[in-house]
Amino acid sequence: LHVAVLMGGWSAERDVSLTSGAGVADALESLGHKVTRIDMDRDVALKLHEAKPDVVFNALHGTPGEDGTIQGLLDIMGLKYTHSGLATSVIAIDKQLTKNELVPHGVRMPEGVIVASESLYAADPMPRPFVLKPVNEGSSVGVAIVTANGNYGQPIARDSEGPWQHFDQLLAEPFIKGRELTVAVLGEQALAVTELKPKSGFYDYDAKYTDGMTVHVCPAEIPPAIAEAAKAMALKAHQLLGCKGTSRSDFRWDDEQGEAGLYLLEVNTQPGMTPLSLVPEQARYLGMSYAELVQRIVEEAM
Ligand code: DAL
Ligand code: MG
Repeated sequence: LHVAVLMGGWSAERDVSLTSGAGVADALESLGHKVTRIDMDRDVALKLHEAKPDVVFNALHGTPGEDGTIQGLLDIMGLKYTHSGLATSVIAIDKQLTKNELVPHGVRMPEGVIVASESLYAADPMPRPFVLKPVNEGSSVGVAIVTANGNYGQPIARDSEGPWQHFDQLLAEPFIKGRELTVAVLGEQALAVTELKPKSGFYDYDAKYTDGMTVHVCPAEIPPAIAEAAKAMALKAHQLLGCKGTSRSDFRWDDEQGEAGLYLLEVNTQPGMTPLSLVPEQARYLGMSYAELVQRIVEEAM
């Protein structure tokens, strides 16, 4: 096949996408496919028109590769592509829209509220500890956990460093203590549960992409009932949102609450494909190499 690999782009996750894309492109070449590597820019439609690929491998993360924009362009161009389509992407990139879609169907997610960043200097939106995050970023870009320490009793200071300085609006959610879990779905199968144990702090951008900063435990050492519940929730979310190919659902589990403490945080429709990424790791745990995973994702798109 002739596969165009879309990577890069201009989101905060550009570097992550370049790493995902390089891995995917190398794997496709090792499988004998013809590969055109395309760094997503304003001329991407021209580049795709010239390349005339059989299928596009979408290795983009964030805007505009994960939010429906590129999916709409590819639909108009009549090109087949990997991963989720337009409508699914629009909803899944937005953590609050995702809740609106999934919570009524019984998927447990933390109750969030959208706040104007400006309002945070007047009052906290909810009791501490709470989490602030941009509604549509990935890789923990702009995520802050606001604890009771430090300026207890005082609202966030205007001149303090945090995502409130970079985003007009943020999603506030109660912080769920406990453990960080993730489940990849490939096709219609939940692969495994991985627990992420950052060596310090939380599973932020550096902990995600610096080798050695996070211990990945796959399969997670958790009770079988919790593992089954997480896999069932990930599969249900994948299906309710209409995800295609692969997705990865991220969870917090308050282990003092049993199954009632398991919360879905979000569904990633363009999960990372870097050497430290979790979907390839879970595939490998099930005996599937990185190249086989890439081949499988391409086949799902054909
Ligand atoms: N947003 C990153 C790429 C992930 O979900 O893996
Ligand atoms: Mg994400």
